[in-house]
Amino acid sequence: MRIFSGIQPTGRKHLGNYIGAIVQYVASQYRGEGIFCIVDLHAITVPYSPAELRERCYDTAALLIAAGLEPARCTLFRQSDVPEHTELTWLLSTVTELGRLQRMHQFRDKSLAQRELVSAALLCYPVLQAADVLAYRAHEVPVGEDQREHLELMRDVARRFNARFGDGEEVLVVPEHRIPDVGARIMDLQDPTTKMSTTAASEQGTVFVLDGPQAIERKLKSAVTDSGTEVRRAPEKPGIGNLIEILAAVRDAPPEQIESEYADAGYGAFKAAVAGAVIEYLAPVRERYDELRGDESQLEQILQGGAAQASAIAAETLADVRERMGVGAPRRARTLP
Ligand code: AMP
Ligand code: TRP
Repeated sequence: MRIFSGIQPTGRKHLGNYIGAIVQYVASQYRGEGIFCIVDLHAITVPYSPAELRERCYDTAALLIAAGLEPARCTLFRQSDVPEHTELTWLLSTVTELGRLQRMHQFRDKSLAQRELVSAALLCYPVLQAADVLAYRAHEVPVGEDQREHLELMRDVARRFNARFGDGEEVLVVPEHRIPDVGARIMDLQDPTTKMSTTAASEQGTVFVLDGPQAIERKLKSAVTDSGTEVRRAPEKPGIGNLIEILAAVRDAPPEQIESEYADAGYGAFKAAVAGAVIEYLAPVRERYDELRGDESQLEQILQGGAAQASAIAAETLADVRERMGVGAPRRARTLP
């Protein structure tokens, strides 16, 4: 079984990314062939700093390795090092419905937030994401809840490609998403009705993976809750529900167990327990990150090795896709001297 996921090199990774996605990447190394991509070409669809982009790719590579990705056990690479992704994007855009791209939630939200240019690349973002996965004929894609719509689109793109060009065969694999039961949507600590994100209004609501113990404690202890006292999940208690979900994910325990353990503990004691557990959970990652991040040439070497492995797979898919679409020299002729 082949498992693929992509992660943006932008900003700092937070607890939502960690619980919702990164933990699932690490686990997938032991279930199948894991391929993980740092998607720098997605990051340039909104305003960004060229001088910083490479640094952010190294940050993300170091963080993923610190979290437990093992370059000997999986493939870790930078998207722009494998040009097949961009070629496949163009080819797949011919079987992608324009209106669907315009209706995607992320496109609508991000284009409303742009003050200057809403780029064509921002509209095509989901096609590039489809190409990322389909180039590897991946079976499974571990992601957080916010990627559901993108996954549905890529499944439709694969199906439409197969129907139009497959001649009855599944040339492109229609991938399944893998969204965790607990922690698929970690909410902002200051506003538990919006998801935790790097672009949140205040840093107070976002726990970063690399935050130190004091910052984590401060953020969790000042998390917004309701005026009740009981630790249980309920629609009118989004703040407490989010903290229950966080502790359940960190302890790898069912949320029900957290509820019964802390039902009468009081919010103060419960928040302190969540803070302690999160501090302990993230500390080893931060330590390993500091060791790894210092050696950029080693990180670059890992990414280059990953790109070579990735290219070998993607090039084969591209050759098939070109052949099916009647694009370029026929496949047999390509191998002639
Ligand atoms: P990104 O940093 O935007 O590339 O996101 C990386 C992964 O983290 C994706 O699979 C997202 O679905 C996941 N993710 C982002 N925010 C959250 C959140 N608040 N809760 C759970 N998962 C998230
Ligand atoms: N759009 C995803 C996000 O913001 C990142 C991504 C790019 C991705 N390509 C992917 C996720 C392929 C899964 C598979 O989180």
